[in-house]
Amino acid sequence: MTLKELTAHIAAEFQKHYGRAPRWIVAAPGRVNVIGEHTDYNDGFVLPMAIERYAIMAADAPLPGSVSAQSKINIFDAHFDETATIDISAPVTKGTPKWSNYIRGVLCGFQNRGVKIPALDVAFMSTVPLGGGLSSSAALEVCTATLIEAATGKAIDPIEKALLAQKAEHDFAGVPCGIMDQFISALGREGHLLLLDCRTRKTELVPMSDPSVALLVINTNVKHELSGGEYAERRAQCEEAAAKLGVKSLRDVTAEQLEQGKGKLSELVFRRARHVIGEIERTVHAAEGIRQSNWPTVGQFMYASHAALRDDYEVSCAELDAVVEIAEDIGYQGGIYGCRMTGGGFGGCCVALVKASAVDSISKTIAAEYKKKTGIDATIFSSRPASGATILKS
Ligand code: GLA
Repeated sequence: MTLKELTAHIAAEFQKHYGRAPRWIVAAPGRVNVIGEHTDYNDGFVLPMAIERYAIMAADAPLPGSVSAQSKINIFDAHFDETATIDISAPVTKGTPKWSNYIRGVLCGFQNRGVKIPALDVAFMSTVPLGGGLSSSAALEVCTATLIEAATGKAIDPIEKALLAQKAEHDFAGVPCGIMDQFISALGREGHLLLLDCRTRKTELVPMSDPSVALLVINTNVKHELSGGEYAERRAQCEEAAAKLGVKSLRDVTAEQLEQGKGKLSELVFRRARHVIGEIERTVHAAEGIRQSNWPTVGQFMYASHAALRDDYEVSCAELDAVVEIAEDIGYQGGIYGCRMTGGGFGGCCVALVKASAVDSISKTIAAEYKKKTGIDATIFSSRPASGATILKS
C-alpha cells in the first residue's frame, strides 16, 4: 500500500469504528539500515534510510459527554481488531495489551515534559513487519509522538522527539537500544539516507536517487526479539572493552590501538570490539561510496559488515547467512553489489544493494533458493528512501 492508499484506509477504519471522520492523520516510517550495525550505542556512525512502510494513526477528540471525553485515549488496532485504553488523568504507566507500552512510554515522555495529553479516539495500523528488524516499534513510538504534536498543535524539536521515543523503548519495552531507529523515523527525508554521528548527533542527508540502483529488503521471516538479553549483553561487552582500553566509548579506539590493547581483553570481548571499530570505519567509507555512486565499493563494505556481524559480533543466524550466501552466488554478474543482515540481528531482514533492472529476477531467485535452503518463504520488497514522520491531515 502506498502512503496515500494507507491514509485513505486508516481514515475509513476510523470512520467504521468511531462513526465519524478523523480530524488528524499522522504516520511514521520503519527503517532499513544500509550499514553501521551495533555502532549507535558505541558513539559511532550509522547510515539508515526510512522505508515506505509505516505506522499510521487517525484520531479525533472523543465526543463530548462520552466516557473518554476527559481522561482516556482509546487506540483501536485496525489490523488485530483489539483496543487499548490508556488513562491519561494520572501519570501513564506500563500496562496491557503489550503493544500499548510503546504508546504509553511516549505519552509518559510528554507528561514528563509538562505537556497535558489530550483525550483521543485513535485508529491505528502498521505496514512495518513486526519483529522483522525494520523498527516497527520505533515507527509506533514516533507515530504516537507525532500524533500528540498534531493534537496539541505544538511541534517539538525532531531530535528531542527521537530521544523521547528512545526513552519509551528503554523504560517501557525494556530494550536498551541506541538512537538510530527513532532518529531515522523522525528525521528521514525522501530520496536520502541519513548519516548520523551518534556521538555529536550531527546528521547529514546523503542523496540516494540514482535510478540504476535499488535497495531490496529480504525478510527471512524468522522473528527477532531484542528484549531476550543478547542485545543488552553485546552492549555490556562493548562497555567492558572501552573501560579496559581506558576510553569513554569504542568510537575513541582505532584498529591499531585495539591490536595494541589486545592483551587487556578476553578473546570474545576483543572480537566484539573489532566488529564495532571496523564497522564505524566501513560506514564512513560506504557513505563516501554512495556520494560518488561507487556501488561496487559500497557493496563490498556491506559484505564485510555481514561477515563481521556473523563471525565477530555473533548476531546473525543461519537464515540471514543463507540469504547473504545466495546473494554472493548471484553476484555482481547477476546484478547484486552487496548484501548484509540489517538491524539488531538474530533473525529479521537482510538488505541488498542491487541493479534496479534486475530487481525482479533477483527477487525470484532469492525466494526460490532461500526456500530450498531453509524451507521458509521469504518476503521481499524494494523501497525508495521515504520521508520521516509526517502529519498527513490536521
Ligand atoms: C536495534 C536497536 C538500534 C541499533 C540496532 C543495531 O535496531 O534498536 O538502536 O543498535 O539494533 O545496529
